[in-house]
Amino acid sequence: MPKSPDSVLSCYDVNHDLLPDSVLRYAFRQLLGNNGYVHLVNVPESFDHVAFLKELGDFQPTPTGTVIGDLKPEADMDDIYHAQNRKPLVPHSEGYEFRGLPPRYMALWCVKPASGPGGETTMLDGQRVLREFTEDEQRHFLETPYTWKSTEGLARRGVHHTVEHPVLEDVDGERVFRFSYNNLVVPEGDDLATRLLKRGKAIYDESHVAVQYEERDMIVWNNWRMLHSRNAFEDPTRHLKRVQIAAPVSLASAA
Ligand SMILES: [Fe+2]
Repeated sequence: MPKSPDSVLSCYDVNHDLLPDSVLRYAFRQLLGNNGYVHLVNVPESFDHVAFLKELGDFQPTPTGTVIGDLKPEADMDDIYHAQNRKPLVPHSEGYEFRGLPPRYMALWCVKPASGPGGETTMLDGQRVLREFTEDEQRHFLETPYTWKSTEGLARRGVHHTVEHPVLEDVDGERVFRFSYNNLVVPEGDDLATRLLKRGKAIYDESHVAVQYEERDMIVWNNWRMLHSRNAFEDPTRHLKRVQIAAPVSLASAA
């Protein structure tokens, strides 16, 4: 059974009053720092998701160029691994196939929840996986370049990216963890990378949290720390919005 989210913030306080902006931002940053993600609930119609997210940093276009994008099932994509269908995904960090640093933060908010079962966004703190690896093994992941490729779904839309990055990268005192269960190319005989994927998937399956959306709910996570995925669903009208937020310019140019 997936766990319930343990980092949840309501837009209303105990007296059913809307939180003042400054209090909402303070509590949000605190939860994001402590847990690596926040599930924002009881979101009023007046809430401006885009304006709120802009305070975290600059938005970054996806491989298809969308800056503020839609996640809606595409009818011709159900036979392939792709974010925009109804199939389950496997654990990954976002942007492992980008040339530079992956997005610092990711945000999804709900326009229309899936009716019926499924459609939860799932998440796990990457630390849960990394702590199974010794310091020497982690050094290997800092120093060894691996090949990462973009998804089959994007390939069908004409996007092919292949890059080389280590799994771990230290950027200005912060550790970046790239992970993809299906798009990290494991070299023949690389037992360590094989173990990373196998244990990563197993720990994810055992310990992830699953976020169920109400209308306007938003989740924001630190994509350098958290892994995420999605459960399958039926409803063809499920609709989320997605934004990726770049690393601050000073960090991106240092990498
Ligand atoms: Fe993703």
